[in-house]
Amino acid sequence: MEELTPVRQSYGRCALKPDFIDYFYDEFLKSHPAIAPMFINTDFKIQKELLQTGIGMLLAYLEGKPAGKMTIDRIAVSHNKTHMNIDPNFYQYWIDSLIKAVKHCDSRYTPDLERSWQKVLRAGVDCIASQHDVPTS
Ligand code: HEM
Repeated sequence: MEELTPVRQSYGRCALKPDFIDYFYDEFLKSHPAIAPMFINTDFKIQKELLQTGIGMLLAYLEGKPAGKMTIDRIAVSHNKTHMNIDPNFYQYWIDSLIKAVKHCDSRYTPDLERSWQKVLRAGVDCIASQHDVPTS
């Protein structure tokens, strides 16, 4: 996927900004009334690190790296119907919030880059959301 290179570079610029993940969670938690209550007992210091790794692994998965696929499949299990049961409709809020954080943090942000982020995140999220109903132990 040709969009991966500009998105990887943009993510590199965002990851250098100390408020990137904070900005994402501020946006994500207020994006839908059902979302903030899910994180009521969450230790955000840990969660922010896990998410940062998760985004890196999502890109690695789309780049064809086995460690990326393994991590994304594990996240798909923790979020599936048998575990946290995250409604697949919520993933669009996740994508929109992440793109707002990119827009806030990446000084080289353009509408073209936004389209690339949309396409890349959609492909990663589809892998997770498509496993929602797969039975797991
Ligand atoms: C592609 C999108 C997403 C990624 C990459 C992601 C990644 C993660 C990761 C890495 C964790 C830590 C636990 C684990 O490793 O399984 C986690 C926990 C969690 N995620 Fe997600 N997530 C995504 C989307 C969502 C969405 C859309 C929701 C809800 C609307 C959500 C709700 C949660 C909750 C409630 C936790 C548990 C927090 C806690 O431990 O208190 N996630 N997520």
